Amino acid sequence: MGVSVAYVTFADPDGFDDEKEVVVTAWAEEGIAGEIVRWDDPEVDWAAFDAAVVRTPWDYVERRAEFLAWAHRTESVTRLLNPAAVLERNTDKTYLRELDAPIIPTYWVGAGEAVDFPVLDEYVVKPSISAGARDTIRTRDREEAEAHAARLAAGGRTAMIQPYLDMVESEGETSLLYFGGRFSHAVRRNAMLVESASRPGQGNDHGELRVPEPDQFALAERVLGEFPEVLYARVDLVRLADGSPALIEVELTEPYLFLRYAPGAAANLARALAEAL
Ligand SMILES: Nc1ncnc2c1ncn2[C@@H]1O[C@H](COP(=O)(O)OP(=O)(O)O)[C@@H](O)[C@H]1O
Ligand SMILES: [Mg+2]
Repeated sequence: MGVSVAYVTFADPDGFDDEKEVVVTAWAEEGIAGEIVRWDDPEVDWAAFDAAVVRTPWDYVERRAEFLAWAHRTESVTRLLNPAAVLERNTDKTYLRELDAPIIPTYWVGAGEAVDFPVLDEYVVKPSISAGARDTIRTRDREEAEAHAARLAAGGRTAMIQPYLDMVESEGETSLLYFGGRFSHAVRRNAMLVESASRPGQGNDHGELRVPEPDQFALAERVLGEFPEVLYARVDLVRLADGSPALIEVELTEPYLFLRYAPGAAANLARALAEAL
């Protein structure tokens, strides 16, 4: 019998994940039979798979404890990629504090803590557990920034306060995709906290192919050195006012992979998976 691998997604009535078919087709070329399954489907026999690749569980943010319990349970019966410990660490952006890498200057307000951060021109306030800019605001109004941070902290969440970097609208965020530790491709992603992000074709799951600069490769590889056990990684970079690259986040849980943008990208993922098995 051949190798069989679960492609783990969520109940996706609107078809947001448009990479399923291209991934499973590329796996087939490597002799891997892929099956598209929902992470929260109680009928799935995870032990029947040689591995489960977490791809697009895009409803986990509101159900993180349940999702992580699922990950640990699943990992006890099959190979989970990325591993449950990585998912646990990566789904709360407080991991950014522990990395030996430059990040966007961030003021942290923990659950129940008093709100305290310096005056900035323009603020981004976001919860440490989020995806798709959920509960994230951009404002020049300090009172609004304070109120949002206070609301998050009062609700038992960790708030992150950052300067708004307008380079995300000019140069754009650069995302480098690595499969099995090898660079596959990179894209320039659209800015998210702008009016146009709500229009079709403008969200930050759209972009264009981009060749990273050497300093961006160097930073991405330094960050990934801390996560040697991952199958897939997307390193999202911005540039600070002084031009130096900084991490906005490293997506090791549910990144959109921009596979249609680069010929061979899906094959790169399939090859990395075949090698991992
Ligand atoms: N400090 C910032 N300056 C400018 N844009 C930001 C900033 N933080 C977040 N954004 C925008 O919001 C998007 C989502 O923020 P991010 O920190 O990546 O969280 P997540 O993707 O997990 O929701 C980014 O891709 C970027 O477009
Ligand atoms: Mg992001």
